[in-house]
Amino acid sequence: MSVVGARPQFVKLAPIAHAITAAGHEHVIVHTGQHYDPMLSDVFFRDLGIPEPDAHLGVGSGSHGVQTGSMLAQMDEVLERFQPDCVLVYGDTNSTLAAAVSAVKLHFPVAHLEAGLRSFNRAMPEEHNRVLTDHAADLCLAPTDVAMQHLANEGITDRAVLVGDVMTDVLYQVRDAVLAEQKPNAVTDEFAKGEFYVATIHRAENTNEPERLREVVSALSQADKPVVLLAHPRVRAKAEEHGISLEAGSLTTRDPLAYPELIAAVLSSAGVITDSGGLQKEAFLLRVPCTTVRHETEWVETVELGWNVLANTPEEIAAAITRPAPAPTDATPYGEGHAAAAAVAAIVESIGA
Ligand code: UD1
Repeated sequence: MSVVGARPQFVKLAPIAHAITAAGHEHVIVHTGQHYDPMLSDVFFRDLGIPEPDAHLGVGSGSHGVQTGSMLAQMDEVLERFQPDCVLVYGDTNSTLAAAVSAVKLHFPVAHLEAGLRSFNRAMPEEHNRVLTDHAADLCLAPTDVAMQHLANEGITDRAVLVGDVMTDVLYQVRDAVLAEQKPNAVTDEFAKGEFYVATIHRAENTNEPERLREVVSALSQADKPVVLLAHPRVRAKAEEHGISLEAGSLTTRDPLAYPELIAAVLSSAGVITDSGGLQKEAFLLRVPCTTVRHETEWVETVELGWNVLANTPEEIAAAITRPAPAPTDATPYGEGHAAAAAVAAIVESIGA
């Protein structure tokens, strides 16, 4: 059983769903409903060929406690109904933690995909979710050597397996299709190649406080090229609440893109500016320079290899986006794009199916 609820989890689910079916196993998909806007949810199922969920919890928005608690309560019934051999949870969202806790309490084996990532920022909700989930899980499926080391440092050794990064699996497939098809795209049709930046900002630490959001918006509005902010509902809602315009100077907004369109936009851009976890890595894999508007990153390899720079003040952001091109690299810290099959094999072995 896969439990997913937020946009990055749908991307990770796609290669896993295909790998489970290819290996001849039955797969139940539970959608918690954490992300409910069609542009954050339905388009991913459609474009990535993911089967319809077998159960939908419809939790919607709420405080961390309300959102997580509602999922926890509902998961009991779902687990009793489907009796899964293993519950697979993804990444670091409230949906991840809720599914892991309810499964562990009802004695269903839990596997955590993307285990071992750490920002070491204990104020981040994602850090709470990933640390607690790794310690609850029976099997930790790690994407990188660094993640394996973090798990070992916390005493998790005999239940950790290095499988590689499943987002790399999807990304390579979609990149090849995008390059072959060259479909119309709202962003790439409007902005000339290499003449714009792709931006996404949604994290609580950049959006919740009006002073911080104003500072980020100000930095993006003074860039040397148009900055196309693919506005997550959270950033739109917070900007409206605080009377901050997201159309200012070089900054302009568009709605979030479907996954293939996003990849096409990144490939065509001069660079990415983001506080997303996944997009930093996607930029690196597409060899597009990235500026990450955060104090730390879980994907340290992108920084070490020179393709990602952490920047927070307007001055740091301006310097980072206009920095010289990074040195080419053929390093593959995230694997070769076969992580989903490895993850499924590790799960099957751990439960003896
Ligand atoms: C969540 C994850 C984060 C992940 C991100 C990807 C947690 C704690 N955070 O953050 O790790 O990187 O998803 O996008 O789980 N909203 C809508 N429509 C939707 C979904 C959300 O309007 O479909 C609005 C709601 O008003 C909500 C806000 O966005 O208050 C935040 O949504 P939430 O699910 O709490 O977290 P994200 O910021 O999306």
